[in-house]
Formats: sequence, C-alpha cells, structure tokens
Amino acid sequence: MKVIVTGASKGIGKGIATVLAREGYTVGLVARSPDMLMAVQKTIESAGGRCVHAVCDLRDPEAAHQAMEHLISRMGGIDALINNAGLVIRKDVFTLTLDEWRALVDTNISGLFYATRTVLPRMKAQNRGHIINISSISGRVPLAGGSAYAATKYAVTGFSESLLLEVRQYGIKVTTVYPGSVDSGPPRPGSAEDHSWKVQPAEIGSACLNILKTSANTLISALEIRPLQPPGKK
Ligand SMILES: NC(=O)c1ccc[n+]([C@@H]2O[C@H](COP(=O)([O-])OP(=O)(O)OC[C@H]3O[C@@H](n4cnc5c(N)ncnc54)[C@H](OP(=O)(O)O)[C@@H]3O)[C@@H](O)[C@H]2O)c1
Repeated sequence: MKVIVTGASKGIGKGIATVLAREGYTVGLVARSPDMLMAVQKTIESAGGRCVHAVCDLRDPEAAHQAMEHLISRMGGIDALINNAGLVIRKDVFTLTLDEWRALVDTNISGLFYATRTVLPRMKAQNRGHIINISSISGRVPLAGGSAYAATKYAVTGFSESLLLEVRQYGIKVTTVYPGSVDSGPPRPGSAEDHSWKVQPAEIGSACLNILKTSANTLISALEIRPLQPPGKK
C-alpha cells in the first residue's frame, strides 16, 4: 500500500507515517521543512521502512499539485492520502490577526483541498482509493478561544463528509478523523507541564492503520479519538 501523509515532519503526521511504515506501507511525506522531513525519512528507513518525501507549502495550489505528482511517481502509485497538515492557532476573535486568519484558512481548508483534488482523478480511474482527513473535536463542537481554528475544522468536516457522498460511487473511501487533545509538540523549554494524559501521535497512527485495513466493501466513515482521562489526569 502506498500512502501520502501531509504534515509529516513532526507531531501527528510523523506519528502516522512512522506507524504505517512499520506495518509495511510505502509512505510519502509532505511538509515545508526539508531538514525535519529528512530526519523523519531517515528514522523510517533505518527501521527498514520505505519512504520518500516532498518539500511543499500546501497553501500554493501549483506546489501542492507538483508535490503530490512527484510522490505518486516516486512511490509508483497511490492507495491513500492522509490530509493531516494543519495550523493550530488558539486565539479568540479579539486577538487573532488578519494574517493569522488567512494562514488558518489557506492551510487547513485550501491546502487540504488542493492535495485532495490532485489525487482524486487517479483514484477514480483505478476505481479504488482512500482519503483520510484529520479534522478535530473542534470541527464538531465549539471551541471558546479558538473560533477561527474551529471554523476551519468545521470546514474540513463539511468538505470531508460531503466528499464521501461524491466519490464513494467510484470505489473511493473517505474517513473523517476527530482527534481530541494530542501530545504532538515537544514540551516548551522550562515547562514542567505534563502532557502524558493526552493521546499520543502513534495512537492516531494506529487508528489510521485500522481505518485503512477495513475490507474493500466496508468503510469507517468517522472516528472520534480522545484521551480517556480528563485534562491533567493520568
Ligand atoms: N494536536 C492536537 O491536539 C490536535 C487535535 C485535533 C486535531 N489536530 C489536527 O491534527 C493535525 C496535525 O496537528 P499537530 O498537532 O501534529 O500539529 P504540528 O505538530 O504543528 O504539525 C503540523 C504539521 O503540518 C505541517 N504544515 C503546516 N503548515 C503547512 C503547509 N502550509 N504546508 C505543508 N505542511 C504544513 C507542519 O510541517 P512544516 O511546519 O514543516 O510545514 C507539520 O508537519 C492538524 O490538522 C490539527 O488541526 C491536532
């Protein structure tokens, strides 16, 4: 199986790519940071996995198209695209700048759309494929102090759930994943905050693995994944 994972230079995307590669999937990584992508690729390859990467700012539609085509050609095809790349800015409407609003919309909505529209014609032609879109719990329920972020994630939810209705007739599966709090970032320098109660990126990877492993005529269309314990509890 050949899978492209966007936003795979760190955090959840890195966790997904690492788990899938360990299970024998060929993974194509996408993000903007060349050094971090190369580091993830080296980690995967040193564990015996197959991996290629493309440096790309998904906010640029032409660059997104080129990156997808490049990876598909290097991998020799595509079975699944995991749209994970995203920007998380938790600010309320009084403090969010216009540049931050545009960055959120361009990354979380447009970037996901650009990647998806490149791979869909190929999946339609082969009558098989799977798009997994990483939304958020904030794409289902309101987020005080993060209204703009939530707006982009509600957009991902709307696009993803509607897309399924447009492409399922071509044998293409679409899954929307709704993670709660994930321990995706390195701790802030000097911070003693404990994040171990959160979902780990590799656990989102395992969830994606299960989503990809359903039988040909079955689909997990939505998956919500949260920490068992409330914030701060282990
Ligand atoms: N962390 C959570 O608690 C949580 C909860 C629910 C949902 N989510 C969602 O999960 C996804 C990943 O979140 P995360 O916490 O893992 O974030 P993260 O650690 O900040 O990682 C984001 C990834 O996206 C890439 N990226 C950002 N902008 C990009 C662009 N314009 N073009 C290409 N790649 C870009 C980043 O790489 P570069 O900077 O190298 O480009 C990085 O690889 C997001 O969609 C987020 O909304 C996260």
